[in-house]
Amino acid sequence: MKKIIAGNWKMNGTSAVITELVTSLLQQEATAVEVVLFPPSPYLSHTKRLLAQVNWHLGAQNISQFDNGAYTGEVSGAMLRDLGCNYVLVGHSERRHVFLEDDVCVARKFSKAVLHKIVPFLCIGETVSERDTQQTLKVIDRQLQSVLDLPKGAELLANAVIAYEPVWAIGSGQSASVKDAVVVHAHIKEQLSAYGISNIPVLYGGSVNELNAAEFLECEEVDGLLVGGASLDANKFMEIMKCIK
Ligand code: PGA
Repeated sequence: MKKIIAGNWKMNGTSAVITELVTSLLQQEATAVEVVLFPPSPYLSHTKRLLAQVNWHLGAQNISQFDNGAYTGEVSGAMLRDLGCNYVLVGHSERRHVFLEDDVCVARKFSKAVLHKIVPFLCIGETVSERDTQQTLKVIDRQLQSVLDLPKGAELLANAVIAYEPVWAIGSGQSASVKDAVVVHAHIKEQLSAYGISNIPVLYGGSVNELNAAEFLECEEVDGLLVGGASLDANKFMEIMKCIK
């Protein structure tokens, strides 16, 4: 399985900025790695066009839990599929904590993605107070369980990507230690193997940059990285991609 390097641009960029960023990135040979870019939704088609000559993947940052109709501001799975998205972030900590999406909402979004043949990146992770009270693994289990409890949940999850992103590490400049991340990744894989799920990619995210990426990627438990801030800088993101030989 190739390692995955994903860039989550969050609510940043303009068409000009994105053109420049992608054009620079495309100068980098990236055959050994699966690349997934998550632009803001107004720029999905624009990014898709820029990626026309390469087999990098397009992902959306959000998906509606509803199919269609009177849901102002929402973007449905069918629309994302229509725009050429292969992946979507579900349960990102900013959605959970800023937009108050609970486990039920995240699970609904997850099932809509699968319904439309879009691979969900299920983002899970503990807050700082949960970490400080040794709740990390409990929180991870609860967040996984909400998807496992869907009808045919284990089957759906088997085809997803998991991103372990400690909430306190996102955008803070302070990543988890590789040792702590490996413990959580091994736990996720072990929990899922009890449901017959093997070979599911488990990515690490949270203040990944060009300086710390290699040590995460050296670990066999880490199947890739979900990069926020550093993915907006072409040189940094290229350095991260280069960590995979
Ligand atoms: P960060 O964001 O790399 O800026 O910490 C990661 C993410 O939100 O996925």
